[in-house]
Amino acid sequence: MNIEDCRKDFPILERSFHGRPLVYLDSAATSQKPTKVIDAEAEFYRTLNANVHRGVYALSEEATAAYESARERTARFIGAKDPEEIIFVRGTTEGLNLLATSLGRSHLHKGDRVVSTEMEHHSNIVPWHFLREHPGITLDFIGLSDDGELIPSDVERLVTKGTSVTTFTHVSNVLGTLNPVREIADRARDAGSLSILDAAQSAPHMKLDVQKLGVDFLVFSGHKVFGPTGIGVVWGRKELLQQMAPYMGGGEMIMEVEKGKVSYKDPPYKFEAGTPNVAGAVTLAAALDYVEGLGWEAVASHERDLVADAWTRMNDAFGDKIRLYGPSPKKGHHGVVSFALKGVHPHDMASLLDNEGVAIRAGHHCAQLIMRRYGVPALTRASFSVYNTKNDTSRLLDALSKVEAFFRGPG
Ligand code: ALA
Repeated sequence: MNIEDCRKDFPILERSFHGRPLVYLDSAATSQKPTKVIDAEAEFYRTLNANVHRGVYALSEEATAAYESARERTARFIGAKDPEEIIFVRGTTEGLNLLATSLGRSHLHKGDRVVSTEMEHHSNIVPWHFLREHPGITLDFIGLSDDGELIPSDVERLVTKGTSVTTFTHVSNVLGTLNPVREIADRARDAGSLSILDAAQSAPHMKLDVQKLGVDFLVFSGHKVFGPTGIGVVWGRKELLQQMAPYMGGGEMIMEVEKGKVSYKDPPYKFEAGTPNVAGAVTLAAALDYVEGLGWEAVASHERDLVADAWTRMNDAFGDKIRLYGPSPKKGHHGVVSFALKGVHPHDMASLLDNEGVAIRAGHHCAQLIMRRYGVPALTRASFSVYNTKNDTSRLLDALSKVEAFFRGPG
């Protein structure tokens, strides 16, 4: 992968803010889009736009074929056996809401236990809280060690007989931790628990293979993998999707509607009520082509290098004035570097960095359980992607030095 060529694929990187060329370090929130992806969406609307699965005219049939071909492309992307195991949704949040709601209707009862982790994004906590409120499931959380890993004894204690669902993230959006998915999934299966993997933060960085991961369900968002917003994916084992209750009701998910009863189509259509995001799915397929075209080895090694370099240089530059969160890069740390600089509130930090043309995220990162665990109201997070360079990190460090000097004051 030639990084300079790769950067040219992303036209937004030519922009400047406050007189400085953009340094975009917020790809964990959303990735930037390559020209091929931007063009794919325009091309769809220029030449293929029609509703799918409804029309008997040629244009609609072509749109349907493109939509179903995007489903096949997505299945290949994650190693799914059957495209019918792919459900298109708006994103990871909708995917996890779909799973919680559907399993809540068909599989979970009062008193059943769902196990999540303190590392989760709110979208893998709040939908389960709904089920805690009604029908009254028990919700437990695997805790975090000081350096941001799941506590093994909590996994052993909680992922055990009597747990109905184990739901956890692949990579933390704050700590960069890569979780031992296969180990937890195997343990869940042995205990009779279903397993759900939130792959929102891993899909942009590594090859996903649902057969090797060993989970029952996986979700990810298109917009973090160089695709458009408003499209995401739920993958589930076919036999489970067949048993599950639908999520939303509406057109195209039914077989028959009568006044006194309704019957549903088979998956995935049972879960895709209404007009789907056809353009989004077709464009997502172009994004998956793009990232696989870069090569996973090249992507992973470039990003590993960036994270390890940023980690070392931030520690070297600020010593005990900075605290970095999550496992050290030697232990494995992916995509993000979250930090607190002594005496500077993360929101002030983000505004001051913006003045230097550096875009990063500050706040609780939709992960308040992590903030509580480490006793901080918020953190600042730099997140990296294929188009970032060590020069971006140098710009971040220069800007951080200015912020630190500003808050230290004279003398
Ligand atoms: N979950 C996304 C993030 O971490 C939005 O920024």
